[in-house]
Parts: sequence; structure tokens; C-alpha cells
Amino acid sequence: MTQPERDAEAQGSPTFTPPLGTGDTADYDRAIRTWTRELRWRGAMLDLLAPNPGETIADVGCGTGSFAVLLKQRYPLVAVTGIDPDTQALDIARDKAVRASVTIDWRQGFADALPEASADAVTSSLVFHQVPLAGKRSGMAAMNRALKPGGRLIFCDYSRQAGLMRLLFRLTVQRLDGVEDTQPNADGVLPGLIAEAGFTDVAERERIHTLTGTIAIFTARKR
Ligand SMILES: C[S@@+](CC[C@H](N)C(=O)[O-])C[C@H]1O[C@@H](n2cnc3c(N)ncnc32)[C@H](O)[C@@H]1O
Repeated sequence: MTQPERDAEAQGSPTFTPPLGTGDTADYDRAIRTWTRELRWRGAMLDLLAPNPGETIADVGCGTGSFAVLLKQRYPLVAVTGIDPDTQALDIARDKAVRASVTIDWRQGFADALPEASADAVTSSLVFHQVPLAGKRSGMAAMNRALKPGGRLIFCDYSRQAGLMRLLFRLTVQRLDGVEDTQPNADGVLPGLIAEAGFTDVAERERIHTLTGTIAIFTARKR
């Protein structure tokens, strides 16, 4: 168990795996930049999201805030909320937003803390592979609740792994985040879970091969 997990448990709060699993959160941004083709998948998410001015976007499991900050820089006329259970990651996110001169509503918590029907779109990147299966289900249901009718989901994560990608995933992500929570993603559960959570038009839009395994981007819509 990591320190943030021990702290959460001691306080009787729900536990979570921090950004880099057993690694140091301070190293997270460099690791993602070096190993995951970060700009490729973050850019694809921004293109697929393509929000209209005035829309409200919630980034669930925002971590150190990289996606939320990029989003606000590229689409300044949207309102962005970044929510994450990890206070250390949120401190890094706040600094990043200040340095980029963008305003983001940072909140500590899980997706279920988002108000019902408050967002035009929900985004999430590299979060649910490190969440237990029950939490994947409840988190996706909470993202669905947070959306307005017809709202969009842009969901990016390690997904089905095949061949060499399965080996790389095992040697990197599964070493840091453990096997139990990550294996369902590698076995391909994501599209089914997204649909079960009440989304329609679930589509895998991109499969991006990286040194840490295949990262997929799904889009879906609230029924
Ligand atoms: C690998 S990081 C990804 C951070 C960020 N989304 C990005 O693209 O860089 C995973 C994040 O999910 C958060 N997290 C872990 N369990 C979660 C849960 N059940 N619900 C929401 N966020 C969670 C962690 O605190 C961590 O910041």
C-alpha cells in the first residue's frame, strides 16, 4: 500500500492508487512524457472533444492537471473542472495552472462528488486501469450522472493488450499499479463497462501503441 492509500485508509476515506502507483508523484509528469507518447493521445482527446464555447467540462482523475491545463489553453471559452482524490497531485496541478495563466476549478474527490447533470462533457485519462473493478463500475456510473442529457464522454486509458503490447504493459504499468486492478483493462473490459454505465454510441476511436502498452480512446454519449 502506498502512503496516500495508508493516509486515506487511516481517515476512513475510500482508498485509491496515486498517479504513479508505487512510484513518486513528483516523477509522474516526466514518466508520462517519456514513456507514453503523451502529446499524441492528449492531442487526440482534445480533437475528439472539440467543445463549443461556454461548455462545462469535467476531467475525472485529473492528477497533476496536464490535460485540464491543455484543454483550457486550447479552448479558453470553456469552464474546466479537474477532480482527483490525491492532494499532492492537485498541488502540482494548481502550480501548473498558475504558470500557464489559466483558471481551473480544482476539486479533491472522486467522480461521485460532481453535481448531477452539471457537465456537457466528461473526460478521463489513464485513471481507471488503476481502479478496482467495482470502482471502475461506480466511477463510470458517476461520470454518467454528472453529464447533462446527451453529454459526451471522452475516455482514454490502457485497454486491450495484445502481443508485444501485453508484455510491455506487464513490465511497466503492472509493475507500478499491480495486476489485480489493471488486468481487466488488458483483457478488454472497457467498452462493455462504459455501455453498462448507461452510455450509448460507445466507440473505440484510437489505439495508440506505446512503450508501456496500448492506450485506447473511446467516445460515448449519455443516453
Ligand atoms: C495515472 S494518473 C492520471 C492523471 C491524469 N488524468 C493524466 O492524464 O495525467 C491516475 C489518477 O487517478 C486518480 N485516481 C485513482 N483512483 C481514482 C478513482 N477511483 N477515481 C478518480 N480518480 C482516481 C489518482 O489519484 C491519479 O491522480
